[in-house]
Amino acid sequence: MLIAGLLPLPRATALILLLGAATLCTGLKCVCLMCETTNYTCQTEGACWTSVMLTNGKEEVIKSCISLPELKAQVYCHSSNNITRTECCHSDFCNNITLRLPPASPSTSHFGHVELTAIVTIPICVLSLAIILTVYTCQRRYGAYRKTRRQCIEEPLTDCNLDTDGKCLKDLIYDMTTSGSGSGLPLLVQRTIARTVIIQELVGKGRFGEVWKGRWCGEDVAVKIFSSRDERSWFREAEVYQTVMLRHENVLGFIAADNKDNGTWTQLWLISEYHEQGSLYDYLNRTTITIGGVMKMALSIVSGLAHLHMEIVGTRGKPAIAHRDLKSKNILVKKNDTCAIADLGLAVKHDSITNTIDIPQNPRVGTKRYMAPELLDDSINMYHFESFKCADIYSLGLVYWEITRRCSVGGVVDEYQLPYYDMVPSDPSLEDMRKVVCEQKLRPNIPNQWQSFEALRVMGRIMRECWYANGKARLTALRIKKTLSQLCVDEDFKL
Ligand SMILES: *[C@@H]1O[C@H](CO)[C@@H](O)[C@H](O)[C@H]1NC(C)=O
Ligand SMILES: *[C@@H]1O[C@H](CO)[C@@H](O)[C@H](O)[C@H]1NC(C)=O
Ligand SMILES: *[C@@H]1O[C@H](CO)[C@@H](O)[C@H](O)[C@H]1NC(C)=O
Ligand SMILES: *[C@@H]1O[C@H](CO)[C@@H](O)[C@H](O)[C@H]1NC(C)=O
Ligand SMILES: *[C@@H]1O[C@H](CO)[C@@H](O)[C@H](O)[C@H]1NC(C)=O
Ligand SMILES: *[C@@H]1O[C@H](CO)[C@@H](O)[C@H](O)[C@H]1NC(C)=O
Repeated sequence: MLIAGLLPLPRATALILLLGAATLCTGLKCVCLMCETTNYTCQTEGACWTSVMLTNGKEEVIKSCISLPELKAQVYCHSSNNITRTECCHSDFCNNITLRLPPASPSTSHFGHVELTAIVTIPICVLSLAIILTVYTCQRRYGAYRKTRRQCIEEPLTDCNLDTDGKCLKDLIYDMTTSGSGSGLPLLVQRTIARTVIIQELVGKGRFGEVWKGRWCGEDVAVKIFSSRDERSWFREAEVYQTVMLRHENVLGFIAADNKDNGTWTQLWLISEYHEQGSLYDYLNRTTITIGGVMKMALSIVSGLAHLHMEIVGTRGKPAIAHRDLKSKNILVKKNDTCAIADLGLAVKHDSITNTIDIPQNPRVGTKRYMAPELLDDSINMYHFESFKCADIYSLGLVYWEITRRCSVGGVVDEYQLPYYDMVPSDPSLEDMRKVVCEQKLRPNIPNQWQSFEALRVMGRIMRECWYANGKARLTALRIKKTLSQLCVDEDFKL
């Protein structure tokens, strides 16, 4: 049990499979439930994957391929007794099996299962642990050798249990983005970080659990704590953050995920960079901004979104990702007033090779106030990945409206308000939103005074083009990014 706690069994299995994978030279064929066009099969260098999850009380089965980088991202083959059971395997069509979740009261039968697997896998765990340690030690030696001249501006690592050769957090993260899969710190390091973070103060409550400010090795970090009830959200968010090459200055920097289990209680942690200015929502309510500030924020947000949306092909590539819950509360304001997109727990990834979207889709999951018309009236084509990107763009337009209203022009500034504040009640239902957005076709008001400034006029025009009822007619993130970058050059805003 103790060893199993240290290194969860599925991960150990994944590692063994990963080593096995290196010896295979051709693509593996797997069953893929979503791949209608390829006769329900897919090919991969990674592993065949099958997972059963409890969704609204019903078992939902997914079978597909996972790529090699995804396999390395460590969370894919994670199982938990109650909510998900997942298996990664490594022979042709080996995921053509029926997985079942254990019955609701697991205490007796579940124990037998654990005992059995423990006997089988403890030797495997010990072996894997040894391998991980060896690999990591080697990497560290090499890293220390390479980096003798790199300077850490951060405070020295004092009360820090993890021997990082005097590296600060930024160095570790820098290492992990420039080496290997580029998806995350080694699991062992993530766990060590999680176990040595000192929790300091509660800074917010989100849809799932709480956000705390913590200290680790002399740096502030944010710790999002999910209850075990929300395990799926924790797992999903950790999984998306560990997507290869996701890292971008305008996407919240992920540090580590860990589950802490004391026998009766599971706490699920997600550790990320900490931004003291808090969410864009709080920031806008607190302060007004200049036209230059509006442009800087708008450009940074769309840069983050364009990075998420973009598919990069190749070994150092990334899948396209749609956020699905973009709003001012899910965007953080960094020190220099640029932004970082956070809360990727509802995001979906697109694999263009198999043309699959990686989770079973419930289209109506975001925040109702920010939902695109096609989500509100359920007309979205959810088998088409582009639809989700177009829905993100609609929400982006609303965020732009919130920001631009807080721009002080000629000493006049509107009070901070959420979009549609004057048209729907404070906690609007889907029906409230649908009536306003789809039936009456209303959109937030674009004030006349914006017309007197080129930059604000352009912002207003972008918003209108983000709000078309027809998703396909909307601008793309890349297009908006180009327009804003050009405008910043033309108007000579100091960025
Ligand atoms: C699709 O799969 C079925 C059985 O799995 C097989 O009989 C059929 O020939 C396949 N079709 C193609 C086009 O590969
Ligand atoms: C999967 O298993 C079922 C029955 O066990 C079989 O009929 C089917 O042909 C298998 N599919 C593949 C692709 O092997
Ligand atoms: C699993 O379910 C049992 C009872 O249904 C519950 O007591 C336990 O806390 C759950 N564990 C997790 C990790 O969610
Ligand atoms: C586990 O943690 C919970 C919450 O902190 C606590 O209430 C409980 O007593 C702990 N159980 C054990 C066995 O330490
Ligand atoms: C802005 O902050 C004030 C004070 O905390 C709060 O009462 C108000 O509801 C906030 N505005 C919005 C639109 O949430
Ligand atoms: C904001 O700061 C980051 C580093 O903290 C830097 O990379 C970025 O260029 C800055 N952006 C602007 C617009 O000043």
